[in-house]
Amino acid sequence: MALRRRSRAALATGALMMMLIMLHFPAPSPTIVPFIPGSVNWSKFKPFHPVDSTKLLPTDRPQPLPPVQADRSLFKHTELTEQRRAAVRDEFLRSYNAYKEYAWMMDELAPLSGTGKTTFGGWAATLVDSLDTLWIMGLNQEFKEATVAISAMDFSVTKERGINVFETTIRHLGGLLGAYDLSGEPTLLQKAMEVGEMLYVAFDTPNRLPGFWLNFEDARNGRQVAGTNDPSASPASLTLEMTRLSQLTGDPKFYDAADRVIRFLDRIQNDTQLPGMWPLTVNFQDETAEGDTFSIGALADSLYEYLPKMHALLGGVDPMYERLYLTSADVVIDTLLFRPMVPDDADILIAGDVWVNSQGLHLSPDSQHLSCFAGGMFGLGGRLTGNDSHVEVGKKLARGCGWVYNAFPTGVMPEIYGMIPCESAESCEWDESKWKPDDKSVPKGFSHARDPRYLLRPEAIESIFIMYRITADTEWQDLAWKMFQSIMKVSRTELANAAVDDVTNADSPNIDSMESFWLAETLKYFYLIFSPPDLINLDEYVLTTEAHPFKRAK
Ligand SMILES: *[C@@H]1O[C@H](CO)[C@@H](O)[C@H](O)[C@H]1NC(C)=O
Ligand SMILES: *[C@@H]1O[C@H](CO)[C@@H](O)[C@H](O)[C@H]1NC(C)=O
Ligand SMILES: *[C@@H]1O[C@H](CO)[C@@H](O)[C@H](O)[C@H]1NC(C)=O
Repeated sequence: MALRRRSRAALATGALMMMLIMLHFPAPSPTIVPFIPGSVNWSKFKPFHPVDSTKLLPTDRPQPLPPVQADRSLFKHTELTEQRRAAVRDEFLRSYNAYKEYAWMMDELAPLSGTGKTTFGGWAATLVDSLDTLWIMGLNQEFKEATVAISAMDFSVTKERGINVFETTIRHLGGLLGAYDLSGEPTLLQKAMEVGEMLYVAFDTPNRLPGFWLNFEDARNGRQVAGTNDPSASPASLTLEMTRLSQLTGDPKFYDAADRVIRFLDRIQNDTQLPGMWPLTVNFQDETAEGDTFSIGALADSLYEYLPKMHALLGGVDPMYERLYLTSADVVIDTLLFRPMVPDDADILIAGDVWVNSQGLHLSPDSQHLSCFAGGMFGLGGRLTGNDSHVEVGKKLARGCGWVYNAFPTGVMPEIYGMIPCESAESCEWDESKWKPDDKSVPKGFSHARDPRYLLRPEAIESIFIMYRITADTEWQDLAWKMFQSIMKVSRTELANAAVDDVTNADSPNIDSMESFWLAETLKYFYLIFSPPDLINLDEYVLTTEAHPFKRAK
């Protein structure tokens, strides 16, 4: 069967039909799904480098942190919002059903060829990652069926020689814990414990900081070491998942393991080439950080994201996380963020990169889709620490990401693009003579779209969703709806949704890829922004970097 993109007309009719369907959500009933243990019990693994002491979970009473969400009375759930929400749910179901039919129990669906892919150890990454979205959308039958399948999965069997510690933590461990926190299904916590015990083996290095890969052969032979040049975000964004596992099981070793990485970052925060931030890559083996490049995009992103989120998860009882957030946020605001010169003089902010040499700091005004999480981070961090100026920065960043979406002919942001920084953030008039793009096909205001793909990423809608919950302003919902329609136009395939090769071209071909975050994050955020504010209330839950909701300490 030849697969092709559906025509615009067919899409529009489909959308209209979807809007006419009224949704009904029966209350989910608790079920007891049998737990089938994996074939290796990793908790019996004898470490070569045992810990001297274990930091216990804080026992102080959680602080009443300031509210994140706007006052309840400010939110209005209209028929229009409900129709939009139904449309998102239908698109989710289309992709999910295609996964079920063509790639069941595999990591990913290949949405053009209709086959499955193994990309993360072969442990049904898309299914585990989507589990809590099924729950949130009230898809109870699907949730039950997926839980039964996942409870029988053997996380000790893989054809791979090693696994990516970060990806397995955020997708598998995070997915299981988020689904458990929502459903209370005991088997999901038991599976999370199996994955957590396996990941804990990665910390068995001489200095107890984990490597990028957990290589099973090296682990059995006591040859694991931390990396000398690893992405800073990789060992540094395991804290939420490991801490939640400790909170739920009462075993503090997971929290202790991930917290050690952050205590190392705390020791060096003010001694890097850009004091306050950590370089893109870090020597976790020698515990030094000499790199000269600083970013909140790829390789570093969730390190920063997890600081205010840990503050929320722990209920503010460990001052280290708040201090790390506030110190780094100052530097990010002062050095990485810039106002771009754009034709409509929009007052927006974009996150660039900084590199340091003996002459000083240099801003590289290139940005990434990945950096768009920062609007939500400043929104959340600003609310939790009572700093309104962070919330304002977050708004300008989130609006900036929306602006970039709308500027491209497809209505979608490229993976990497460049803009022209204004001389002053206060005023900045468009001056066409200063616009000299490297590449003529980019819209006015851009210098290039060096990587013009759209990989179905969530970060822009993530920040826009958080801003909506902070402000209750429907401006954000309207922006989200526009983005949703644009994404559908370019990514919808016969079976599901696929990554886009070139967002500068309205007739771009698709790429045979649908990563698990499409169902775990992107469509979850689109669904939540059109849902009433009590569904995953940000004063009760904190969402991980893979959008898995964890209950906050109360
Ligand atoms: C794994 O081993 C630990 C320690 O011996 C034990 O408490 C636990 O129940 C075992 N897990 C399973 C699934 O058998
Ligand atoms: C780093 O510097 C900031 C001020 O810029 C300060 O608030 C913070 O406590 C310092 N961190 C450490 C670990 O000394
Ligand atoms: C809020 O954050 C900004 C930027 O990080 C900082 O300059 C300011 O002092 C903070 N205000 C308060 C009240 O903490």
